[in-house]
Amino acid sequence: MNYMRDSNPAYHIPVLLSEAMDGLNIRASGVFVDCTFGGGGHSAEILAHLNQDGRLYGFDQDADAKRNSLRDERFVFIPHNFRHLQRFLRLHGVTEVDGILADLGVSSHQFDEPARGFSTRSEASLDMRMDKRQSLTAETILNTYGEQKLQEMFSEYGEVTNAKTLAKAVVALRNKTPFRTVNGFKQAIADLVKGNPNRYFAQVFQALRIEVNDETGALHDLLVQAPALLKTGGRIAIISFHSLEDRMVKQFFRSGHFEESDEQDPFGSSPSQPPFRSLTKKPVTPSEKELSQNPRARSAKLRIAEKI
Ligand SMILES: C[S@@+](CC[C@H](N)C(=O)[O-])C[C@H]1O[C@@H](n2cnc3c(N)ncnc32)[C@H](O)[C@@H]1O
Repeated sequence: MNYMRDSNPAYHIPVLLSEAMDGLNIRASGVFVDCTFGGGGHSAEILAHLNQDGRLYGFDQDADAKRNSLRDERFVFIPHNFRHLQRFLRLHGVTEVDGILADLGVSSHQFDEPARGFSTRSEASLDMRMDKRQSLTAETILNTYGEQKLQEMFSEYGEVTNAKTLAKAVVALRNKTPFRTVNGFKQAIADLVKGNPNRYFAQVFQALRIEVNDETGALHDLLVQAPALLKTGGRIAIISFHSLEDRMVKQFFRSGHFEESDEQDPFGSSPSQPPFRSLTKKPVTPSEKELSQNPRARSAKLRIAEKI
């Protein structure tokens, strides 16, 4: 099959493309949502599976992604955060769909564009916003968050081993000189690096990126809306790149909630029926062939569920 049709592979190479399409089990006349349009790789492939009656709605909160919008009358681009999925679909007269796809995180374009501040390798202001309409930036976080909040962020989102020491140092350092740029921040914390510096900075920057864009909050909001939006038998496919996100998806697909325990009611009434049947006991991961062609796919995990 000819994957990557009208999309923009220079912007982003779609990961787990055929696996995600198989998982969505696309009905040709169905209504689908791509929550993370990006370069349009997954969207173009969904469209290729649809007939004239099919519809596709593509969300992306980054104005750059809009430039890749597909010229196809069955497609609508929605330039907003997918955490408002139901609200914006309703504005387009859509109250139920056959399939939902989300390919989380940032695109290669966002990462490689120096001015965006996502990469540890380019000098830029400490920005990291996917949506430039929001005011919170990495600079604001580093210069204003309290020590405890910084520690939790570095630890939970970056798995930074010395999160407590780093948070304490950030607060002390910024009192002398506020952080403004990627290189300035890296130089200021250079003495705190543990292990491989590239890996260390990548973890610190990942934590900041997840916090700036409230990525786990958006995923939470997407998941809780999905059961009401999906038709019975409809599919949801989520590709994540962080163990925290994969755990949220796994837990929600299995039980319909985020608590580890299945015991919803301490007084013994039976737990409510989960809204989904999880179709992936273990997550689907990229093949050796895909990894050799696109090393950035390496931590991708796809999970699929069907609405009961
Ligand atoms: C990994 S890329 C998706 C790439 C896309 N599947 C493709 O084939 O080109 C993630 C995209 O989702 C967008 N995004 C991430 N979180 C979002 C959110 N909460 N709401 C809307 N868009 C989001 C990012 O701006 C980025 O363009």
